[in-house]
Amino acid sequence: MNKTIYFIANWKMNGNHNSIKEIELVFRFLKKSAINKFIKIIFCPPATLINFFRIKIRNRLINFGAQDISKINVDNGPFTGQLSANILKNSGANYVIIGHSEKRLIDEDFKTIKEKINVALKNKLKVIFCIGEDLSQKKRGLSLKILKKQILSSLEKKINFNNLIIAYEPVWSIGTGIVPSNNYLNKVYVDLKNFLKKKYNVNSPIMLYGGSVTKDNVATLGDISLISGFLIGGASLKATSFIKIIKNYFK
Ligand code: 13P
Repeated sequence: MNKTIYFIANWKMNGNHNSIKEIELVFRFLKKSAINKFIKIIFCPPATLINFFRIKIRNRLINFGAQDISKINVDNGPFTGQLSANILKNSGANYVIIGHSEKRLIDEDFKTIKEKINVALKNKLKVIFCIGEDLSQKKRGLSLKILKKQILSSLEKKINFNNLIIAYEPVWSIGTGIVPSNNYLNKVYVDLKNFLKKKYNVNSPIMLYGGSVTKDNVATLGDISLISGFLIGGASLKATSFIKIIKNYFK
């Protein structure tokens, strides 16, 4: 085992101050587990909680990320409601999720996503860039075409992949309990890898899977060698199920 496996908890619009107990349980598990050398754990709670959690757990076994960032590339200023890269970093975030399908539905278009990615990278926040096709696109056989369009429209030609994680999250899998077959996923990841090599000259992009990941399917998903980890929604909210996902991956 020589690559780092990512387990990223996307808490979406969930959590409160009491949720620190879930993170503490995960931390306690990691501290006494030999697995911790091979994994990266990133919690992405609502932005209002990042600083509170970071202060409670200063250990680098636990990392934090935000779920959004302002596209405005200044540290501070008269921009009501905006959270700059600087403000996010100051709160304890080292990562930011950009391009999630739930956010695309609300207010993120291609141009905005590209701007946000550029702002994050310029300001040394690592980006978790989400891509994914919806069910009707999949049914029409357009999955790979859509994924490539999402990539090309958001990533600059000379982008640095050292600070970029690509999370493939089929929209039809998020929160549905439906997980694509390994056969389907293998094809997608092989194709994406070749595409990224061709367009961006990157050899080993970090590519994750997200969508209904649970303790019961993580081992099967782990058979796909091009997947370097998971972006987990519902099953990341409780420490018990999050820890089981990590354990079962390595079983
Ligand atoms: P679920 O794991 O709840 O399907 O959510 C996946 C997701 O959207 C993570 O970003």
